[in-house]
Order: sequence, then C-alpha cells, then structure tokens
Amino acid sequence: MRKEILVTGGAGFIGVNLIEYLLNETYYHITNMDSLTHSTNEETLTTFLRSPNYRFFQVNICNPIKLNEVFDRQYDVVIHLAAKTDGIETLKSSIDFFDVNVIGTMNILEKVRRGFAKKFIYVSTGKVYGALGEKDRPYTEDAFLNPSNVYAESKASGEMVVRAYMKTYGLPAIITRCSNNYGPYQPQEKLIPTVILNALEDKEISIYGDGHHIRDWIFVKDHCKALLKIVEHGKLGEIYNIGGGRERSTMDVVKLILDYMNKDHDLMKHVADRDDGGRRYALNWEKIHFTLQWKPLTSFYSGLVETIEWYAENNFKKVDKIRKSSTSIK
Ligand SMILES: NC(=O)c1ccc[n+]([C@@H]2O[C@H](COP(=O)([O-])OP(=O)(O)OC[C@H]3O[C@@H](n4cnc5c(N)ncnc54)[C@H](O)[C@@H]3O)[C@@H](O)[C@H]2O)c1
Repeated sequence: MRKEILVTGGAGFIGVNLIEYLLNETYYHITNMDSLTHSTNEETLTTFLRSPNYRFFQVNICNPIKLNEVFDRQYDVVIHLAAKTDGIETLKSSIDFFDVNVIGTMNILEKVRRGFAKKFIYVSTGKVYGALGEKDRPYTEDAFLNPSNVYAESKASGEMVVRAYMKTYGLPAIITRCSNNYGPYQPQEKLIPTVILNALEDKEISIYGDGHHIRDWIFVKDHCKALLKIVEHGKLGEIYNIGGGRERSTMDVVKLILDYMNKDHDLMKHVADRDDGGRRYALNWEKIHFTLQWKPLTSFYSGLVETIEWYAENNFKKVDKIRKSSTSIK
C-alpha cells in the first residue's frame, strides 16, 4: 500500500524539492496544499500534476472550512511546511507571521487530533534558538529557545502549540529544526540566488555590513533526505536538529560564487547592515545522525555549483513567474 503524505506549503522552495524527491520514490501518494502566495515554479507544479501519485489543492491554512476539502482521507504523514517565511518582510510586519505560523498551524493540528493523520511533522527552524557567539558550540535540541526576530518567534510559538497538542491530546508529532537551506527553486531575493542572478547580469551585489555574518548552510536535497528519514523512522514526540555542518560567512559564499562564475570581486559593494537578529547561527545534528543514520552528504562547493548551474539554466523570470503578493493571505 502506498503511503498517503500531505505536504502543506509544497509549492515553496523546500516543498517543491521535497515533492520532486518523494515522487521519485514510487511508494508515496502526495497531496500538496498551498495558497500559492509565495510559490516558486509553475512549470514544476504542472509537471507534478502528470504523476498519478500527486494531487494539488490551492487552500489557505487559515481557512478551516476549505481545509475540509484537503482532509478527505486519513494521511499517514503530514509534513507541515506552509509558513510565512523569513526575509526582509520580517522587519516590516508581524501579525501575518502569527496568523499563518501559529493560527494556521493550529487549524492543521485540529485535523490531526481528529484522526486525519497518523504522524505530524512540524518543520521548524534553527533560528528558534537565536544567534550564537563566535566561540559558542552549535545548539543541541535541549537548548533554551531565544528567537530574535518575528519570523523565528512565530515559528517557536508554532512549536509551543504543537507541544501543547502533544501533551494535551497525545498528538502524534515530531518537530524538526533546520539550518539555512540553499539550492534550486529558492526565491530570488535570498542571498545565494541574488548573488548568482546579479552576477549573471554583471550587476552590483550588496553586502550588508562587513559581510562576516555566519550561517550553517545545508543543501536543500540533504534536508529533504532528512525529512524522509523522519517520515519513515522518526520517533514520535522527538525534536531533531537538521544541520549542514558547513558554516560560511556571507563574504566566503559570495566570493566562491563569483570565482566559479569567473566574475570580478569588484561587483561586491558594502551597504549599511540590517538587523535581522544575529551574526552566527549553527546547529548540532548529532542526534539525527546517531539515531536515524542521516548526515548531510553534499559538500558546500558541489551544492553551490549545482545551484549556480540550475539558476543559469532556469532564468529568474521563469522562476518567479507566479509569485503573487505575499503581504496578505486572508
Ligand atoms: N528555507 C530555509 O532555509 C528554512 C530553514 C528551516 C526551516 N524552514 C521552514 O521550512 C518551511 C518551508 O520553507 P521555504 O523556505 O520552502 O519557504 P517558502 O516561503 O518558499 O515556502 C512556503 C510555502 O508556504 C505557502 N504558504 C504560505 N502561507 C500559506 C498559507 N496561509 N496557506 C497555505 N500555504 C501557505 C507559500 O505559498 C509557499 O509556497 C517553513 O515552515 C520554514 O519555516 C525553512
């Protein structure tokens, strides 16, 4: 029997990569549910529709009535990716983050608690821990949560709601916390796509502050493999960090891209820093490594090369074709 998997937010960056990966494993039937507020690639979503193991609902998780259409069966697993995600908007508005990432999550949890899913995976972020000092050890799962921007706060609040449902109703859930993803289908305003696309057109590349902000980068396909491990073998009630083990500063990342593309470092221009909540983020992923035998397999350089080649082939106008306003989704 095929496993029935519901992916919420499956038209976004991680969702498209995840569904592409799951559809290659023929023993899954995928339902994708997304409001298409921030989706990545129309062509790929259309390609998915050709698979007999796939169906799509354009539904907003904040609309509990419409959710009834999606929960027309019992799912083996719900992978909850739908969220208002990080970005420059985090600095501008707050309410939408909590509407979607907390109330929207509760609407899905209500369905799970009524028996519409056997396992619920809440895809959270390493940003719930907050930033690290230069010499601090990467965070383990039992670290104190200390989010430092609205996005991370709303994701941490979503986690708290999931935990409340686990304790109160015995909801069968797992929480994952992942570090910074990069790879194909990422929205163009993110660091790596921006650098690649600007470099392709010999346009200036803005470096915020001194460019020494450090992130733990994970290739999106390694993240998808970790999620599949958790779908199959993850233990209910647990939290798993999913890290890349590849800490790199913004400057290092930009220089690697420019060098690979044979572009001059003069394209980089330092601009005023923006306060997005911390200089260094990194996760300890030993728990998933030792309990589920997962580790990130893609070297930072080879993942970067694959990403550059992908953006060079899929020009950005196509990538962002169906992007709609992401400010309001009611
Ligand atoms: N990208 C990362 O580096 C990263 C790291 C750790 C965790 N995460 C988490 O992974 C998940 C996916 O992230 P992503 O980078 O693919 O983001 P994304 O913004 O590309 O995708 C999010 C998707 O959710 C959909 N969505 C938003 N609001 C919705 C709503 N109200 N109803 C239904 N669908 C809605 C969007 O249309 C979009 O397709 C998020 O929960 C995010 O917090 C991302």
